[in-house]
Amino acid sequence: MSEAAVTVDAVTKKFRVYHERNQTLKAAVMRRRRSVYEDFLALDDVGFEIPRGSTFGLVGDNGSGKSTLLKCLARILYPDSGTVTTRGRVAALLEVGSGFHPELSGRDNVYLNGSILGMSRAEIDRKFDAIVDFSGVEQFIDQPVKNYSSGMYVRLGFSVAIHVDPEILLVDEVLAVGDAAFQEKCTEKFVEFRRDGRTVVVVSHSMPSLRNMCDSVAWLSHGRLVETGEAKPILERYLDSTRTDQRTGDAGEVRWGSGEAQIDAVELVGPRGPAASFRTGDEVTIRIRYTAHQPIANPVFGLALESHDGVYLWANNTRDLGHRIDRIHGSGVVECTIPRLALQPGTFQVMASVVDESTTHVYDYVREGARLVVDFGTPVESGGYLALDGRWS
Ligand SMILES: Nc1ncnc2c1ncn2[C@@H]1O[C@H](COP(=O)(O)OP(=O)(O)OP(=O)(O)O)[C@@H](O)[C@H]1O
Ligand SMILES: [Mg+2]
Repeated sequence: MSEAAVTVDAVTKKFRVYHERNQTLKAAVMRRRRSVYEDFLALDDVGFEIPRGSTFGLVGDNGSGKSTLLKCLARILYPDSGTVTTRGRVAALLEVGSGFHPELSGRDNVYLNGSILGMSRAEIDRKFDAIVDFSGVEQFIDQPVKNYSSGMYVRLGFSVAIHVDPEILLVDEVLAVGDAAFQEKCTEKFVEFRRDGRTVVVVSHSMPSLRNMCDSVAWLSHGRLVETGEAKPILERYLDSTRTDQRTGDAGEVRWGSGEAQIDAVELVGPRGPAASFRTGDEVTIRIRYTAHQPIANPVFGLALESHDGVYLWANNTRDLGHRIDRIHGSGVVECTIPRLALQPGTFQVMASVVDESTTHVYDYVREGARLVVDFGTPVESGGYLALDGRWS
């Protein structure tokens, strides 16, 4: 018997891409006989093994095939050729809140999602308290999940997935949404999984978290496997490749999403207009310029801050802060004002996103939206990321 938890053997996956975008059903029916399409190779002859008991990362640029591969492992998609063999019970958390029904309560969704992931009613009954406890959303468990913040969605979804007791856990990107306390819990859980000889497969654009978590990685580029093996050297080479391959444009290179709405630029504005650097204590407005290519009801814009070494410091979105946006279509601007910049000197990365009302579907997520450079201002403190204005007595 193979020691591998997962064997991916010569997997090829094609998507049929139609050239008319956003066509109406009627138009699609009318032109059925002469529809224009081509086959697009999302995965091209990909093969590798994932050792049992390892934490394994998938890296690669946007559109390189990571999510497609993870869906093949979860058997949500099937390869056109080649095979995927998984040895052990699989649980997957592929999108924030996937498998959740917005109108149902957290409680009902635990049952719904648990049964989708293969648990019996009795098993969920038995594990219910543990699931809710790990998620930390007990006060909200009888409210409809449409009222949950994106962080709460992820907490509950992740909690259900790990309580399936999977031998193989697949996680696509979503954990980046949670708060620091929850990220810590997830990291601990991954360590525990590894100790128990379980296998975790993660997709992430965060090199620091991959470096911390993963034993091995596979690097995908345009649907092909570039290399696979020990995590650290491959992550270094992958990072180098993204540095030398900088594309132009205001919004940075690493981005994902379905594209119905896009982030055109992220600008930092101080009291004297747009600026490249700020001081501790300054008022800063972060301005997102967007274009919605079609009408979108109730979109949610989000911002996040990361330190230069990849520590996730802050996130904030329009929905969780009660700023409802009825509809966007065409180009526009949203702004978030921070009255006092509570950061010590350093360079920070501003990430911006536009997602749907339930925060489960990403239209566009830009990891390198803007660089925020902070110089000495007030207060001056002694070290670390935050300027909390501590006072001694
Ligand atoms: N259902 C689909 N129909 C058509 N094309 C698709 C479909 N799903 C994915 N693709 C295309 O396949 C390619 C690989 O997509 P995939 O989502 O696997 O990339 P990814 O590596 O996960 O990217 P990201 O980092 O942006 O999440 C992309 O070009 C994408 O547009
Ligand atoms: Mg993806």
